[in-house]
Amino acid sequence: MNKLQKKIVDKIQEQGGIPFREFMEMCLYDKDFGYYQTRSTIGREGDFFTSAHLGSILGRVLGKRVMDLASNEGPVHVVELGAGEGYLALDMLEYIARENLPLYQRMQYHFVEQNPSVFNGNQKRLNMHLDRIIFYDSLSELNSLPSAFIFSNEFFDAFPVHLVTRRKDILSEVHIGYKSPNYTRIFKKPSAEVWRELEELGISVGEGCTIEINSGIEGIYRQLTEKIEKFHMVTIDYGYTQDELYHPERKDGTLMGYHKHAAYDNVFQLEGEMDLTSHVNFDALIHYGEKFGIDPKYFKNQRTYLMDFGLFELFQDGKEPTTTDAFQLKTLLLPGSMGDVFKILVQEKQ
Ligand SMILES: C[S@@+](CC[C@H](N)C(=O)[O-])C[C@H]1O[C@@H](n2cnc3c(N)ncnc32)[C@H](O)[C@@H]1O
Repeated sequence: MNKLQKKIVDKIQEQGGIPFREFMEMCLYDKDFGYYQTRSTIGREGDFFTSAHLGSILGRVLGKRVMDLASNEGPVHVVELGAGEGYLALDMLEYIARENLPLYQRMQYHFVEQNPSVFNGNQKRLNMHLDRIIFYDSLSELNSLPSAFIFSNEFFDAFPVHLVTRRKDILSEVHIGYKSPNYTRIFKKPSAEVWRELEELGISVGEGCTIEINSGIEGIYRQLTEKIEKFHMVTIDYGYTQDELYHPERKDGTLMGYHKHAAYDNVFQLEGEMDLTSHVNFDALIHYGEKFGIDPKYFKNQRTYLMDFGLFELFQDGKEPTTTDAFQLKTLLLPGSMGDVFKILVQEKQ
């Protein structure tokens, strides 16, 4: 039994079971042993890689968006949520510094990442840009801003989720018990928080289906609107519309574990050593955005976004793709690739 498993089992025994959401939160964010507290590398040497690890194209296209949308004078604020190891930050800052130095000199990059283990690596990696960057452990630390370009890559998929299931027409929230040497599932009445999400989003759970619910979305949109007057927000993640996500075809949900680049259906193992993730309900992002006056403007796959917003311009005027660019282009553009699976939602608050 690893140290985190012991901590989880002690808690289960103390409380007679814990909601699955709490189990997942401990696996990812327990302050001593959680996956996203103790890992200093994700990427190729870690358990999974994101578009940020493939090369600089995504960061460059996002940088181009910042340049296209920036005002002609005054500070240009960029807020990155769940910025991880800072690869996108680096790619964006280098691109803007190269293409438009005066704009770069007006930039303030607000780097929001709660994982303390990546901090030293990020200081080194972003060494040349530290006078442009402010680091925050949490969005709540951000000061008020008049306007910002906000973005995230694989942020919402890393939230702990509730598991909700319907069996014999009874709706339950999954809790976790323990009977040595295995975890057990306990089915309890859904918490008030889960009912609120089901009602607010109009979610119905099909007979025999288990779904995931991320109850942390509303809080993020609330904080963003409280802190930033006007913004353009780009969310990159894997996920579906609500109908697709909760379709009975996907009856066991989308929860997965990733460890050393292998995917696991069984998330009840390697506690704190495996990344746990679930697909994003993009309708929930749109719904909670609208609730705070943020309008949805664009929702397409990553490949289309890149083509719509400047991918080919990166290679104009004799700028040849490097070998890394060529490999990344393949991963981002071929059917069935990351460019297909990942979606991009753009929302705006005026
Ligand atoms: C799947 S990783 C993606 C990292 C990076 N964006 C990338 O593309 O490689 C999710 C990141 O979000 C961070 N995170 C999750 N919830 C957070 C929160 N509420 N505030 C700040 N960071 C958070 C995690 O620590 C983790 O580094």
